[in-house]
Amino acid sequence: MRMVDLIAKKRDGKTLSKEEIDFIIKGYTEGEIPDYQMSALAMALYFQDMTTDERVNLTMAMVESGDQIDLSGIEGIKVDKHSTGGVGDTTTLILAPLVAALDVPVAKMSGRGLGHTGGTIDKLESISGFQVELDSQAFNQLVNKNKVAVVGQSGNLTPADKKLYALRDVTATVNSVPLIASSIMSKKIASGADAIVLDVKTGSGAFMKDLAAARELAQAMVSIGNGAGRDTIAVISDMSQPLGFAIGNALEVKEAIDTLKGHGPADLTELCLTLGSHMVYLAKKAHSIEEAREKLKQVIDNGQAIEKFKTFIAAQGGDASVVDQPNKLPTSRYTFEVKADQDGYVTDIAAEEVGVAASMLGAGRMTKESEIDLAVGVILQKKIGDRVQAGDILAIIHSNHTGINEVEAKIQAAYSIEKDKPELHPLVYDVIS
Ligand code: URA
Ligand code: CA
Repeated sequence: MRMVDLIAKKRDGKTLSKEEIDFIIKGYTEGEIPDYQMSALAMALYFQDMTTDERVNLTMAMVESGDQIDLSGIEGIKVDKHSTGGVGDTTTLILAPLVAALDVPVAKMSGRGLGHTGGTIDKLESISGFQVELDSQAFNQLVNKNKVAVVGQSGNLTPADKKLYALRDVTATVNSVPLIASSIMSKKIASGADAIVLDVKTGSGAFMKDLAAARELAQAMVSIGNGAGRDTIAVISDMSQPLGFAIGNALEVKEAIDTLKGHGPADLTELCLTLGSHMVYLAKKAHSIEEAREKLKQVIDNGQAIEKFKTFIAAQGGDASVVDQPNKLPTSRYTFEVKADQDGYVTDIAAEEVGVAASMLGAGRMTKESEIDLAVGVILQKKIGDRVQAGDILAIIHSNHTGINEVEAKIQAAYSIEKDKPELHPLVYDVIS
């Protein structure tokens, strides 16, 4: 086989076989196929698209390019959840203990954040003593005992994807549905999940800005997952404003605690119940989505969800007393109010801009090496559809510095205030299964 012939084949719109895709991914991972040939192929794939079989084969070739996590020592159906990214998305922190309270095993590998705000691992580290590094034996034992453990990424998962993603980034080939879908799904499958619940975001703060594109990506990932023998569903949810009120690491832990106690923000609670009920159903801990949802509400109401959060924190060395005394979480030295400069209704909150503002305060990383400030961030006081009068507080900035003019201006600018009450976006647009 010669790479040049395979590039020509795809350029001409023909279908690559499993053997051909394996040859390409193996050769590229091992450095035998150079970047310039892989770039040409990526561009051909971008224009010619891929069949479902090609997508599954590409995904599995990337899975097999590196280590695969073996979760077979953990009892039950391991359901993973993945979000395509958003601002102030606290769902993983809530869902892990929430579904574990119904005996769904959560063996989660999570990342650190880059840009916007931290990842789940960063958020957990704002709990004093919390250990995000566990060897696989300790990890498996914890999940079997408590049904939940979360660790940082380790090992050499999907090196082919790492290399290809970096190449796509500089060859204008990131924005291709089959390439994005196989990239995301390869990582989920390599992490050992039996079943996968995807949260595909749409709206100004999302990777996929419009609904049609989000739906196409969701469908692509669901076909790959099911084609690879993993029960997969996707929820398409709104990211036209940040989720919940809190954006920032310790601030989001506090928000997760509130939500697990039953008094979290309405949108965040609703999305967690939706994603959670699909997780519980796929794990076969309920006979229907509706039953799963009822059970989740019950464990929030009867306190089992928040108890599970305490157990989870303590089992990984963290100080579980933060659950009842959230003031023990890192807090910033200063707070500043951002006020409305006119009367009207909030019609838009540019999620990405709020994320960048939080990042400028130190909540997110500018580079992989930067240290983040766990205490800082933004708490929204108004969301889309709320009525405001000039002088009302739109958001509160939590900062360890006093020079926050630029951040304040960014948050001001992120809010659109108009005379007429806007139509509200649905929180969940669709479920693809
Ligand atoms: N996120 C990924 O992991 N891969 C992509 O290709 C795009 C977004
Ligand atoms: Ca939030």
